[in-house]
Amino acid sequence: MKKIAVIPGDGIGTEVIREALKVIEATQAKNPMDIDLVEMDYGAEKYLKTKITMPEEQYDDFKKNFSAILMGAFGDPRVPGNEHAKDILLGTRFKLDLYVNFRPVKLLDERFCPLKNKTPKDVNFTVFRENTEGVYVGVGGIFKKNTPDEIAIQEEINTRKGVERIIRYAFEFTQKNNLKKIAMADKSNAMQYGHNLWYRCFFEVAKEYPNIQSKHFYIDAMAMMMIREPESFEVIVTNNLFGDIITDIGAQLQGGMGLAASGNINPDGVSMFEPVHGSAPDIAGKNLANPMAAILTAEMMLRHLGFTINADMIDRAARIAIQKNKLTKELGGNLGTKECGDFICEVIRNGN
Ligand code: NAD
Ligand code: IPM
Ligand code: MN
Repeated sequence: MKKIAVIPGDGIGTEVIREALKVIEATQAKNPMDIDLVEMDYGAEKYLKTKITMPEEQYDDFKKNFSAILMGAFGDPRVPGNEHAKDILLGTRFKLDLYVNFRPVKLLDERFCPLKNKTPKDVNFTVFRENTEGVYVGVGGIFKKNTPDEIAIQEEINTRKGVERIIRYAFEFTQKNNLKKIAMADKSNAMQYGHNLWYRCFFEVAKEYPNIQSKHFYIDAMAMMMIREPESFEVIVTNNLFGDIITDIGAQLQGGMGLAASGNINPDGVSMFEPVHGSAPDIAGKNLANPMAAILTAEMMLRHLGFTINADMIDRAARIAIQKNKLTKELGGNLGTKECGDFICEVIRNGN
């Protein structure tokens, strides 16, 4: 029995995860999986009521008792400092050592791409974002707060171990998938210590993979190239912050935040899956959110757990929804969140 923790979180997180769960259950009816979905209510609401973000024991419970975690999104205008999200989302990434942030950028239909004349074969690459270090570690402080002399320090941490393991993971993925090209982005022209480590480490590891074409970019140029020639990328590896930014660009190349799925992987332990998007307070509670990113994230999770048949069912149904324009409004359809989820479930149930 595989236990899966489900944490819908805030805003549209709850709306899209509801659809993802419906879809998982629809596949269960066709091909039962030995899983137990355990819902947990961590998020802004709980935090505001109880001050609990995520208790320390919860991380151990995940490690000991769970095979995967499915999350929605965290962020609420009533918690402007985002304290709860730091613990729940970043806490999970750090404490479970989910060092691989796997974010595929795959255009499923030409009509979704904002670029002229780009087809699914042009936008098809994978970003590996380092997920446990960088500026996200929260090292730093504020001195003389709210005075004219205020000093704010936010350190970026890059360790040899942390940089090397994500670079190696990206090379291994490239090799296993018979891909030919890997690109690494840093800002070593301006950040001469931390990003020099990235630069050296990348080319050292590259020597072990002579059949893979290894290319270095400065992150600004990579952002430009993602728009000019997305077809030139197969695999990208970069640090935590740059990976965050370029995967929003990547999401838009696929058609927007409503389509981008992601995995936070610990290759030796429990992993967490979540859509790339946030809680979208601007559309929350209106049945407007596209549930596809969450549904494709559920597919990614099932595939990771070895439930290939069920994952394939979701993949097929999502493609049919796209073909038939059974989509939410921002993609040019006329369905709400719930109706889009219903359609995918119906395809899974009826097979058409
Ligand atoms: P966002 O991703 O929530 O929204 C950006 C824009 O994309 C908005 O216009 C939104 O309406 C749209 N959008 C996002 N998801 C969509 C979907 N499924 N369907 C249709 N449109 C969608 O980013 P933001 O506005 O910068 O952040 C809102 C909150 O979410 C903040 O508190 C932020 O910190 C948090 N956040 C959380 C996560 C996470 O938990 N993984 C990720 C990103 C942002
Ligand atoms: C993401 C989000 C998070 C990040 C935020 C909410 C801290 O933007 O998962 O992409 O920056 O990692
Ligand atoms: Mn982000």
